[in-house]
Amino acid sequence: MKTPIIIDTDPGIDDVIAITAALFAEELDVKLITTVGGNVGIENTTNNAVNLVDFLGKDTPVAKGADQPLLNKLVSATKVHGESGVGGYHFETKEDSVLLSSKHAVEELRDAILHSNEPVTLVPIGPLTNIALLLKMYPEVKRNIKEIVLMGGAVKGGNRTPVAEFNMFVDPHAAKIVFDERINIVMCGLDVTLQTRISTDDVKEIEGYGKVGEMVSQMLSYYDSPSSTETEMSIHDLCTIIYLTRPELFGLKRATVNVVTEGEASGCTITHYNEEGHVQVVLDVDVEEFRREFIATFKKVHEILGN
Ligand code: BDR
Ligand code: CA
Repeated sequence: MKTPIIIDTDPGIDDVIAITAALFAEELDVKLITTVGGNVGIENTTNNAVNLVDFLGKDTPVAKGADQPLLNKLVSATKVHGESGVGGYHFETKEDSVLLSSKHAVEELRDAILHSNEPVTLVPIGPLTNIALLLKMYPEVKRNIKEIVLMGGAVKGGNRTPVAEFNMFVDPHAAKIVFDERINIVMCGLDVTLQTRISTDDVKEIEGYGKVGEMVSQMLSYYDSPSSTETEMSIHDLCTIIYLTRPELFGLKRATVNVVTEGEASGCTITHYNEEGHVQVVLDVDVEEFRREFIATFKKVHEILGN
């Protein structure tokens, strides 16, 4: 039985890699992709999601969501992901893609969750604006959400400010709403994502994997995460997907997480470890296996696509 998931995303180079891995994972059934303003504006994140699904020959529906955080003004990350969100890469674009829903992401999320026979796993890998709106507007969806496996936050440190990770920083009010719900959350934050380093040699290897390898390596040649060095980088969002397909590679600890919404520490995720907490914080990963999984994923996608 495949796990039904919905990816909420702001593509974003590491988002593209995570979505690609999810769409070809035997263990996962991606029901829907919803977009949010984050790394770049909503028009670009939505175009990137639609173009990617199309490029990969899939028919997963995409729905456009919130263009701005709940209260703050959007802060983007074009320095990391480029003006378009996918570095210098150019997808072939189609007019009026059939993959794009005419409904708002929050409506599509509601329908997809309530109509699913199995409880759905939400995988937010951008700011949590859509997810917060969903939980406030349609709280009845909670009964059919299995868990939320998200990329965001950190027990220690930040990458957008000294104490805030980017996704939490962009929409701290939404993050607070989501973390304050008693829904099971798996938090893949910087504590683990910064351990999952991919080397430029790994990227060179992937470059040989046909059109998908070319796409990923072209995007990663641009990717300028604050955590990147000349030889290594962290593909943050991919952690959520590899956690779902290979959970045995990760070490977790239960906690409750309070999100700071105002002032200099806005977006900081204050983590209190305790056995009753509904958040499982991912703290450790088998780095070598993660790296092998990254390479194996794109080899497999190349073989399936056959070009
Ligand atoms: C997160 O911020 C974004 O730039 C990435 O796509 C990832 O979701 C890492 O902090
Ligand atoms: Ca992202």
